[in-house]
Amino acid sequence: MNEETFTGSRTYMQRAHQVIPRGVNSSRRAALRPTPLAFTRAQGSRITDIDGHEYVDYVAGYGPMLLGHQPPQVIEAVHTQLAAGVLYGGQHEAEAELAERIVELVPGAEMVLLNVTGSEAVQAALRIARAATGRRKTIKFEGHYHGWIDPMTANGPGSPAGTGPVPRPVIAPEHSVIGPEILVCPWNDPGALADLLAQHGADVAAVIMEPVAVNGGNLWADDGYLATARRLCDQHGCLLVFDEVVTGFRLAPGGAQQRTGVTPDLTALAKALGSGFPISAVAGRAEVMGVAEDAVAHGGTYNGNALSVVAANATLDVLKTDQDSLYPRLERLTGELANGIEQLAARHGAPLQALRAGALIRLHWDAPKPLRTYADALAGSTEPLRHFSEHLIRNGVHARETGLWYVSAAHTDDDVDRTLSAVDRALAEVSQQLLGSAR
Ligand SMILES: Cc1ncc(COP(=O)(O)O)c(C=O)c1O
Repeated sequence: MNEETFTGSRTYMQRAHQVIPRGVNSSRRAALRPTPLAFTRAQGSRITDIDGHEYVDYVAGYGPMLLGHQPPQVIEAVHTQLAAGVLYGGQHEAEAELAERIVELVPGAEMVLLNVTGSEAVQAALRIARAATGRRKTIKFEGHYHGWIDPMTANGPGSPAGTGPVPRPVIAPEHSVIGPEILVCPWNDPGALADLLAQHGADVAAVIMEPVAVNGGNLWADDGYLATARRLCDQHGCLLVFDEVVTGFRLAPGGAQQRTGVTPDLTALAKALGSGFPISAVAGRAEVMGVAEDAVAHGGTYNGNALSVVAANATLDVLKTDQDSLYPRLERLTGELANGIEQLAARHGAPLQALRAGALIRLHWDAPKPLRTYADALAGSTEPLRHFSEHLIRNGVHARETGLWYVSAAHTDDDVDRTLSAVDRALAEVSQQLLGSAR
């Protein structure tokens, strides 16, 4: 593809930029090269831009499209519901049905409250934790992302310090409120968590983490680390909160907590829950969630909106019914992609690692091996990854510049083959570019 081929997206971005800051409605979308793309259609594993290029899609709407674009069961449920109304401002049967399904699938879920975005589900979880404990402080981990709402933006991708794997300050420090109530702990360092709790434990309501540090580099917890965090929380009377906005339903029907066997007190869920229809949930132990009966304000005009709820019910139906075939297939395809990328990288002499967690891959360029901590992730180079994703786009693969790839149930063996051919060509281009600039 030459420059001319992105004319439609470039023209759209110029128009949008007149009336939308940066021309995008979520800051990170502006980072895509050669230009942020405008799309017209998505179906299955493919997405089509305004210039008519079809891509194999690994952005997957930033994660929600676990079943691919337009999964028939979900679309049919939404069509049927459309004829019966969109938003009632009151209850409907599908809400309790959805809560029951979440309780059945997610180990830590005994009661559920619905919201619309992942950021809100995190806020609801933390408010419930403060009410349940009568304490105010929250411990979070370096590089973990919990949404874009101010107090939780400390030290994560898009944080004031700009310390994401792509160090791009999305919120200028002077415009962000973090406050003394957020304490930041290094990931995979049980001693640091024990020390922080020894010092502040009596004031800590919640220890919140991505149980696999997806945004901090797709880093699994070391053996025993989650169990230690669980034990320390119990010892200090604070609640363990898993942010499973990304990992929920994606790593297993019951998310990372099912995979790791460690059960949190509260869980934030979103993304894959709704197959692209906006919906999130906070779920947890009945005793803890019970504070929402009277001590916690929980609001949202669109909470429990009928379209998202029926989409979520249909999604969970598919995940439950097909789990024995769907998850092993996702693991196999993701493994083939990750291994294929690493083998091609070795052939091109590119220092590329593909870290895998369920149907998620995170690429790291020139980072240490093994990669365990956020500091390790930050030691990698971001610019080659940006070049790489640009060349992938030019070769028909839609992948983010951060190197975070979402694999979906709609991806096929043919998609993997096409993708690896594109990876081969993109690596050749990047290697040439890097050699050229080293001369
Ligand atoms: C782990 C995690 N938590 C929370 C969020 C925020 O979700 P939302 O963008 O739906 O507000 C995200 C978004 O990417 C996320 O990755």
